Amino acid sequence: MTGRIIGLGSFLPEKILTNDDLAQFVETNDEWIRERTGITQRHISDPVNEKTSIMACKAAVMAVKDAGIDPHDIDLIVTASTTPDLVFPSLSCTVQEAVGATEECGCFDVNSACPGWVAAFNAAESFIESGNAGLVLVVGAECPSNFLDWTDRGICILFGDGAGAAVLKASDGKRNEFIMRTSCIRGRCLRCENARQPYRRDEEGFEKATTFNMNGREVFRFAVTEVPKIITDLSAKYNFSLDDVDMFVLHQANARIIEATSKKLKIPIEKFPMNIQYTGNTSSASIPILMKELKDSGRLKSGMKLVMASFGAGLTWDANYIEF
Ligand code: UT7
Repeated sequence: MTGRIIGLGSFLPEKILTNDDLAQFVETNDEWIRERTGITQRHISDPVNEKTSIMACKAAVMAVKDAGIDPHDIDLIVTASTTPDLVFPSLSCTVQEAVGATEECGCFDVNSACPGWVAAFNAAESFIESGNAGLVLVVGAECPSNFLDWTDRGICILFGDGAGAAVLKASDGKRNEFIMRTSCIRGRCLRCENARQPYRRDEEGFEKATTFNMNGREVFRFAVTEVPKIITDLSAKYNFSLDDVDMFVLHQANARIIEATSKKLKIPIEKFPMNIQYTGNTSSASIPILMKELKDSGRLKSGMKLVMASFGAGLTWDANYIEF
């Protein structure tokens, strides 16, 4: 058995922050942001009514409805987030209550930064393949806006808030294949310290370290090298041709990274859908938000072969080959 996506949901906060809005309080401009990243706007959540758990629940409820399932039948909920509003219990527990799953439904979270949803998807797949779950809800929800240094133009322009979710059902058919990779040695270029370390409170630079910190050029170089490579390795390992893939659904971090991947793989850019223009980088939520949009627009159809790939802090990077 393999996990087939039978329902999708997503949520984007109401408030929009455009590049021009950003230029009001940090030294940047619309042209620079658009040319270097492809982003024109991002959504910023309301701290009370759209916090991470609320966004996660909204996307999850939508996915369950879209799947047309009885929530009592859900065996497992796996939620990816690096920016939850609770340290514990896990975000998945909050989602369990919101969707109306029973106490027979297991819940846990995955903290794997931007590739978190893909890692959660792969955990769900493994539960399904081993026969330990038949119906799994996989959620990605992030509120990077709470963790940004809004005076640092090198990073605050990149991110947006949002959530996405999918229901996976045990089905016959092509197995979902994946590769997951990590390099902690190279991971210093993308970090965020936990703010709750009382003994470090007076340490110089500690407060800044509790926001997202990034060496953008280094992360960019890593992404344009490793993403095409892991996709090529996936096709070699599982013996399929990249020409037969209908769509490459990549983490929406920077349009130039996606364009470079298309070029390196010699696959037309039309096969690399993007919504980063108006979402920014929503971290682990980016792939399910994009998938939901593709399905709603009719571009993503049943039976299509997809490669999903994501990358981020760790450094971590993953690629999957699935049939929708
Ligand atoms: O989810 C995964 C995590 N992150 C990523 O995927 C990010 C990967 N990296 C990137 O997307 C790019 O490196 C950035 C978009 C962050 C930066 O683009 P870049 O082309 O690598 O620019 P840079 O950092 O090399 O900076 C070039 C110039 C610098 O000025 P000087 O030194 O040439 O005078 C920066 O100070 O652009 C300046 N700059 C800006 N100017 C206007 C940096 N940020 C901004 C800004 N507005 N927001």
